[in-house]
Formats: sequence, structure tokens, C-alpha cells
Amino acid sequence: MGIFITLEGIDGSGKTTAADLIAGSLREAGYRVLLTQEPTGAYLGTVVKDIVIGRDSGKNIDLSFLKTLSKKTVSIMALFLFSADRIVHLDEISIKLNDFDVILCDRFIDSTYAYQAVYPNGKNDKSFEELILTINDFVLRQKNVEINRTYLFDLKPEDALKRLNGRLGKFDGFDSEPLDFFERVRTNYIYLADRFKSRIKKIDASAPAKDTAALIVKDIIKLINTLY
Ligand code: TYD
Repeated sequence: MGIFITLEGIDGSGKTTAADLIAGSLREAGYRVLLTQEPTGAYLGTVVKDIVIGRDSGKNIDLSFLKTLSKKTVSIMALFLFSADRIVHLDEISIKLNDFDVILCDRFIDSTYAYQAVYPNGKNDKSFEELILTINDFVLRQKNVEINRTYLFDLKPEDALKRLNGRLGKFDGFDSEPLDFFERVRTNYIYLADRFKSRIKKIDASAPAKDTAALIVKDIIKLINTLY
């Protein structure tokens, strides 16, 4: 039985680059590693990218209906769309945990909280935030999958923006002020790290990706040795 690790952080935090490095180092050390991500590359994942993130997957989905929706509706819709992609993904993850030593997932349930809990117009809605956590938990329990550890790549939004080099167009779907949006996503992540201390390790992501990756690889190997 393998271990399930998730990587989280705001866009530009360097986690995707680090994910490749971590997977490479673990493979060199002889571990069987599956690197995966959310939104997935499967059908629902690409639909989510089209509808929520505003990417064009070439599916020619008519997105004109989005224009008539309130921001609140879009937030709630996003919660269910990401969760739908996730439950299908979990079918695969639960099976593949038998074949791999480590499954490394670039974004998972904490992204849904961090991003979708950024409620429209700067308002907070505790009941919506708790609903997201309940759905996240419910979805995981359906497949009896447990996250063994989550690494939160923590970085100031200003620094993340510099790394993104103008890739901000991707936030069209969230329809937010970029910096303010990142600030709130980061705050949500830090809240989760405080709330789920035993699962989430906050990492200073301002270091070069290869240093951060090396630190995580060491920690994962230690975790495997503790568990097995
Ligand atoms: P993408 O570029 O595919 O991934 P990454 O930023 O990790 O390279 O973009 C995914 C976007 O989707 C990212 O901005 C975070 C967002 N997202 C959510 O809002 N909720 C979720 O549940 C997930 C998984 C992602």
C-alpha cells in the first residue's frame, strides 16, 4: 500500500516544478511514484478548466451561460465541479495506491477550500466554508483514501506574481482582483495549516524549487520509513 501526498499553494508558488523534481528524486531512489494533478486531465477536469478557470480545452463548450450567473452561483458551482472531478479521480487513486509506493498529487481538497472559500465581494461565509470541508471529507471517505501528508508551499502573493510573469489571464474565471485574490487564497491555506496541523506541513517556498524539493523528498522518505 502506497502513501498519498498532496502539494498545495497559490499559483506561482513553485509546487508544480517541485512536484516533477520530487517525483524524479524518489524514482531515482527506487520508489514507484505516480504523479497526478487536479483539475485532472480526464473529461471532467477539462470541463472544469473550461468553465471555472477559463481555459480553452478545445471542447467548444458554449460558455455564454456564465455571463448571466452571479459570483455567488459561480463559487458554489465551482465547488461541485471540482468535487465531481475529484470523486472520479479518487477511483483511480484508490486502485493505484496498491501499485505505487507514493502517489503525489499536485493540488487536491485544500485547493477547493483555499480557492472556493474566497467568497465574492470580500465577504466570508462560515457556513459555506464548513460545507466545503464537509464535502472534501465526504468525498475522501467514499474511497477510504487518507492523505498521509500535505506540503503547503507558502509564498507572499507579490513574489508568486513575479514568478507567474504575466500568466494572470488564467484568473478570468474567478473574476477577482489578482493580488487581493491571492492574499485571500493564502490566508485560507494558512487557516487550513493551523486547523490540520498533523497533516499539513507549511514550507517556505521562497527558496529555489530544487531546495524545497530536496527537503520534501527527505521528509517523504522519513514518512515511508515511519509508516512501514
Ligand atoms: P492549473 O494551472 O491547472 O494548476 P496549477 O495552478 O496548479 O498549475 O490551475 C488550476 C487552478 O484551479 C488554480 O488556479 C487553482 C484552481 N483550483 C480551484 O480553484 N479549486 C480546486 O479544487 C482545484 C483543484 C484547483
